[in-house]
Amino acid sequence: MIMNWRIETHDSLPSTQDVLKRPEYSNAAEGTVIQTRIQTAGRGRRGRVWVGDQAGNLYLSFLLRPNLKPQQFGQIGLVAGIALAQAIRPLLKNPADLVLKWPNDILLAGKKCAGILVETDATNNVIVGVGVNVKTAPLEHTARLNDFCVAPVHEDDLRDRILYIFSDLYKRWLENEWGVLHGEWLANALPAGTPMTVKHGGQIRTGWFETIDDGGNLILRTENGTREIIMCGEVFL
Ligand code: BTN
Repeated sequence: MIMNWRIETHDSLPSTQDVLKRPEYSNAAEGTVIQTRIQTAGRGRRGRVWVGDQAGNLYLSFLLRPNLKPQQFGQIGLVAGIALAQAIRPLLKNPADLVLKWPNDILLAGKKCAGILVETDATNNVIVGVGVNVKTAPLEHTARLNDFCVAPVHEDDLRDRILYIFSDLYKRWLENEWGVLHGEWLANALPAGTPMTVKHGGQIRTGWFETIDDGGNLILRTENGTREIIMCGEVFL
């Protein structure tokens, strides 16, 4: 199955995520994509603002209807992360500049260039939001994709690459290939042993990245030698 993407492009929206959560989209086809040129109230993970006041970046959300078991929820964002990595890496002057950082960040030379937000709506549809700083990097310590590319990229071409690749990965994921995809995520990610600090549930843990488990949780090796399973949190390098 190659997904039948139905792309709606808008000039300006508050948040592409919220459009797909509107009741009139609750029966929309899987593969419905909402893209906007400017996003005025974009959200990131953990309630953060995702700045979208400049045209030329990629802001989109797409709708999925997988029959999810609870432990699979965390896997979807990781599958989307692989799609972004595979879509972006061949465009780079130095392909090694790109790494995935758990759970859903795409870094270029250590700075965040893209993020993924996975949410569900009232009817358990899954909404995957993707933001990529293609033409402008709105905040300090963020990266602009076009600074790293062999040739400037248009956000619509990047969108098509991401959707095409995700379609194939999603099919494989539905066919129970998570075991292989898990390895593909790790192959694109920060190497095991990378020192990191993780903030979760009001606690701070320092240690080294070990791996991600089957549910997509982060496994952190701490200074006292324990392995911590982190289901949600924020990683600082
Ligand atoms: C993150 O890294 O925190 C996730 C950022 C996700 C941003 C995208 S932009 C398109 C979609 N609409 C939103 O409001 N957020 C996501």
